[in-house]
Amino acid sequence: MPSPLKIWHPFTNAALDSAPIEIARAEGVWLYAKDGRKVIDAVSSWWVNIHGHANARIAEAIAEQARKMEHVILAGFTHAPAEELAARLGKWVAPELRHLFFSDDGATAVEVALKLAVQHFSNQGKAEKGEIVALEHGYHGDTAGAMSVSDDSPFTDPFRAMRYPVHRVHSAYCYRCPVGLRRETCHIECVGRLEEMLEERGENIAAVIVEPLLQAAGGMIVHPVEFLQRVRELCTQHDVLLIADEVLTGFGRTGKMFACDLAGIAPDLMCLSKGITGGFLPMGVTLCSDRVERAFRSDNRQHTFYHGHSYTGNALACAAAVESLRIFEDEPVFDRIARIARMHSERLRQFKEFAQVGDVRQIGTIGAIELKAADAGYLSAMRPKLYRFFLERGVLLRPLGNVVYVLPPYVISPDELNHVYDVIVEAVQTLF
Ligand SMILES: Cc1ncc(COP(=O)(O)O)c(C=O)c1O
Repeated sequence: MPSPLKIWHPFTNAALDSAPIEIARAEGVWLYAKDGRKVIDAVSSWWVNIHGHANARIAEAIAEQARKMEHVILAGFTHAPAEELAARLGKWVAPELRHLFFSDDGATAVEVALKLAVQHFSNQGKAEKGEIVALEHGYHGDTAGAMSVSDDSPFTDPFRAMRYPVHRVHSAYCYRCPVGLRRETCHIECVGRLEEMLEERGENIAAVIVEPLLQAAGGMIVHPVEFLQRVRELCTQHDVLLIADEVLTGFGRTGKMFACDLAGIAPDLMCLSKGITGGFLPMGVTLCSDRVERAFRSDNRQHTFYHGHSYTGNALACAAAVESLRIFEDEPVFDRIARIARMHSERLRQFKEFAQVGDVRQIGTIGAIELKAADAGYLSAMRPKLYRFFLERGVLLRPLGNVVYVLPPYVISPDELNHVYDVIVEAVQTLF
């Protein structure tokens, strides 16, 4: 008998990392392992889960849809769950964003946004306006286009040759200010690099892509709202499209439904995924303005957006997303979010006193602690020690190198969240 295939786990080195834990069931914030262990999912399973694991309402909505129709090609066809999702999402997003294009996950939502931006201009005879600007410390996914706009990192290193060139400008990493200033007295001078870039090359630039207010995988870097507001103004001034990658920040993570709402701005394109289905099924969507879409309505067939994935607009994922939005409408989700935000700011205060801590950051439901490290970065030797320490105490946290962050499902209770923080305190005090 041939041996069973071995599962190749993501972001895992089979020579260095321990064997995966088999999870038999999950409920709320808890993962229950086959061997009897119980683990708090304090990273929302790679930031996707918002209403808790095995949410009964979403599970039922998927089951009901599966009995009617599981999936149908979306080219030339449509279906009620897709239409309902478009209608419901339309109530939450900025009025400027009126068109929705489905894809499969965060990276493909980003690919779609980049391609729409470039083709928007080429359809108008401006093929030269096809360059992209992205931020230092940015992360937008692991497919080739998304990797290109992401900053250089251990994730992208082996793929230099297949990443297309992009212009990279400063982000607003206040703890390590790229222009050597202090937030208390600065005037967001870090945006100056973008300003110069757009002045010099605006005629050739199609879009600027940002993770609005929070650069996540780059180290949970929280930006002042003024930075995003200035980026918006500069894009408008130079006729450059602004792509907001809200793959993580969307669906309440930062305290408002979308991070752009906190800054009071509307992007030209917005990428959504992760929390969109409540964490049940993969789905990506890219939203865009009338202005972007108009360039694709043409009697020239060559102006069509020739892009699509087999499972585009999957009916089960749409049913899950619709139910997740209904939960936002009928349950006190924003009260849960506000409670987590309050607890983060209370619990993070004590870390500021620790000699091992360089910076603490918080936005909405995300709290982060940047530890001082000689080898700061994703490959910091602190990471495996911390990860193991947390897991041995029944807490799933996946530090980004020397940055420990807590990003829980919104249903976490105060006791559960306090427990997560107690374990982090113990780790910081005993390991370093
Ligand atoms: C801001 C952002 N964009 C895109 C992605 C890629 O999403 P996915 O992993 O679903 O492809 C991520 C994933 O972490 C992300 O944080």
